[in-house]
Amino acid sequence: MTDTDTTTGTTKATGEDTADPVAFPQDRTCPYHPPAAYDPLRAARPLARVTLYDGRQAWLVTGHAAARRLLADPRLSADRTRDGFPATSARLAAVRGRRTALLGVDDPEHRTQRKMVLPEFTLKRAAALRPSIQRIVDERIDAMTAQGPPAELVRDFALPVPSTVICALLGVPYADHDFFEEQSRRLLRGPLPADTQDARERLEAYLGELIDRKRVAPGEGLLDDLVRRQLSEGTLDRGQLIAFAVILLVAGHETTANMISLGTYTLLTNPGRLAELQADPALLPGAVEELMRVLSIADGLLRMATDDIEVDGQTIRAGDGVVFSTSVINRDASVYPEPDALDWHRPARHHVAFGFGIHQCLGQNLARAEMEIALRTLFERLPTLRLAAPADEIPFKPGDTVQGMLELPVTW
Ligand code: HEM
Repeated sequence: MTDTDTTTGTTKATGEDTADPVAFPQDRTCPYHPPAAYDPLRAARPLARVTLYDGRQAWLVTGHAAARRLLADPRLSADRTRDGFPATSARLAAVRGRRTALLGVDDPEHRTQRKMVLPEFTLKRAAALRPSIQRIVDERIDAMTAQGPPAELVRDFALPVPSTVICALLGVPYADHDFFEEQSRRLLRGPLPADTQDARERLEAYLGELIDRKRVAPGEGLLDDLVRRQLSEGTLDRGQLIAFAVILLVAGHETTANMISLGTYTLLTNPGRLAELQADPALLPGAVEELMRVLSIADGLLRMATDDIEVDGQTIRAGDGVVFSTSVINRDASVYPEPDALDWHRPARHHVAFGFGIHQCLGQNLARAEMEIALRTLFERLPTLRLAAPADEIPFKPGDTVQGMLELPVTW
């Protein structure tokens, strides 16, 4: 693994749509580059055919312009309970029938749901949370330096920071973090579909009890607010509120934790880029966008066509599964020249790593604030931070889940 300004992606320009469909998803070989097996997909823009885990074929959206157009197209449904909705793993298929708030809801209901929570996730709100995020980050680094070096950065930093932040925001007791982090892990990465199902049920039961307690004695968090405003007034029922709580809690900590761990790994294995950032911290907001683009940790957004859609001479038929590979879309060379290079100076902001359209990440302002504060403080306070194991021996997550490091042994 070297500085990515030596271009690592070798894109074979086959351009053939007659070739056997590539299997999607596949494991990455380097944790921050799409698998080499996706090279034919990178050559076939804006659409390719892929084979999913169950042998079913689907469309894979690979072109940047087409992706933004299609993610904003109401003829693509996100309702996972539809018959024939695609899944990229047996695990996802196992929970397809369960109610998913926001992410699994189409307009007009989606608009109503999003309005209920939007005020908590504005840019202004994220800015107001910065001092408390900074305090949480500082406390974690204090604890790490009190006990180390070395440290295991996922366990000691990358996971507890966003977990503590989302608990405070939602009004979930952080004391329960071992329980909900474990269930989230099983939900997103359990070895068997039954695990996913069980984890989902346990999370629902836990959050249901929490909501019941809040009905009696509401506190200060967003869930308390939803109990007061929506549940009491009947605009959300208990099951819907639980579905809100599940997605906010899981999406609110797992994803950002992966960006912090994988972002740190990427910086440590690209010392030239890290030095540039340390010399000029003003580059950091742009660097966070560029890391989002290059790492594309949520790779494989799912939709189903409800009508025929023409895309550059090809027809997506009603009932077809449509998958968006953010890692391939975000390396579209017509938008990002030398797409495999990490470049803090490029305008990366239009990447689709937070999605696009009505489901674009609700927590993106919060996630940006957390990533900026976590990475800046980590490298400021531990300027000699380095990996405590050979880079290519550090385990990372399989391709069919949110990408990130399984562990990150570091020293300083
Ligand atoms: C760096 C971290 C994050 C990444 C990479 C990320 C990525 C994404 C992506 C790609 C989507 C769109 C999915 C789709 O269209 O199918 C999404 C949606 C969503 N994200 Fe995030 N996310 C992150 C952090 C967060 C945080 C901190 C929260 C806080 C609660 C959050 C909550 C949500 C929710 C609720 C949705 C569904 C929005 C809707 O359907 O209206 N995410 N996220």
